[in-house]
Amino acid sequence: MRTLRRDEREAVLALLDEWPLSDGWRGRDYFGRYIELDPTYADDNFWVAEQDGQLVACVQIFPRQLRVRGTTLPVGGIGSVFTREAARGSGVASRLLEASVAAMRERSMEVSLLFASRHAFYGRLGWLLWPRQRSLWLRADTNTAPDALRPVEAFDASRDLDEVMALHERYSASRDGTVVRDRAFWLGQLGFAGNPTEEFLVARDAAGRVEAYARASLFEGFCAILELGRSDAPTATLALADLVQHSMAPRDPDPSAARAGRPSAEFRRMLLAPTHDDAALDAALAARGVAAKHFEERASMLRVVNAEALARRFGEAPRVGESPASMLRRLLPPEQLVFWPADRF
Ligand SMILES: CC(C)(COP(=O)(O)OP(=O)(O)OC[C@H]1O[C@@H](n2cnc3c(N)ncnc32)[C@H](O)[C@@H]1OP(=O)(O)O)[C@@H](O)C(=O)NCCC(=O)NCCS
Repeated sequence: MRTLRRDEREAVLALLDEWPLSDGWRGRDYFGRYIELDPTYADDNFWVAEQDGQLVACVQIFPRQLRVRGTTLPVGGIGSVFTREAARGSGVASRLLEASVAAMRERSMEVSLLFASRHAFYGRLGWLLWPRQRSLWLRADTNTAPDALRPVEAFDASRDLDEVMALHERYSASRDGTVVRDRAFWLGQLGFAGNPTEEFLVARDAAGRVEAYARASLFEGFCAILELGRSDAPTATLALADLVQHSMAPRDPDPSAARAGRPSAEFRRMLLAPTHDDAALDAALAARGVAAKHFEERASMLRVVNAEALARRFGEAPRVGESPASMLRRLLPPEQLVFWPADRF
């Protein structure tokens, strides 16, 4: 067990290519984007197990800074957890995950975050489920003619990135769990947020300034909003509702629907919303006849990596009898974790 060597990037991608992924992805292509484009990528963030000269298992740390209670929390995202079929069940992934936790602690990360359905497996290793509220937006019957909505434009990085970065910064600042992004991270993330493409729309106010944006893509078979943002201007809520409705409008051609193997009208009838904490947006959509069905997402898992450092960061004295996990639950309640799916790994 060790970290990846520079000349082994191809070998680890060949290993990950054995993973049958959703949404039409080949492992090599999906995970290769992070190696190529994520500015936080480093070979020694990959923990690998080698057997008889071959890589058989891997785990990857994704360093992220999350906004929590007005400060930024150094977090180790965990992803690319894979063991070759023949090597499974011997504890190799568990040991790699334990090694990653030790590595995160050494690198001053205080919390680890991952997204999984294998809750018992990660639970035994110390990660705890952080259930979040999500919604499914259902297209209103009248939402078939995007021409009736105000005009929107496709995001153009060379023109819009500064304004969208500023909106993201402001809108996300009060939402705990969102990732802090600098320009380099934004530029990289534009290349790995989609599945593989995304529909990134912007709406402008009367003065021509971007006042809202929405990013949508195929996501685990659904049409999903990956991220939202708007200014505080009263018109911005309506502009954002327009963008959401645009994302639900059938179109031709529709590469995302084609990739999902469904007709555009059916694919876009239901839109998977992120945890977003925006009551004004919800009200605007409801007023337009967009129904919302709520459900509990059971995928996010968190683990305290360094309880002392975490307590110090938030100026907390350890409470008698309180476990590190309870402290984290108090600091970052599950229902308040707004982690944009655009930032997933
Ligand atoms: C999930 C995955 C990475 C596990 O890899 P692994 O190397 O088999 O993991 P481990 O051997 O550490 O643990 C697997 C099981 O064996 C058990 N185990 C651990 N050590 C063991 C040992 N020495 N002897 C027997 N069993 C052992 C574990 O308790 C675990 O039990 P569970 O399946 O009931 O949770 C692997 O199944 C995989 O690659 N799956 C496809 C990709 C995937 O789903 N990745 C995770 C996405 S979130």
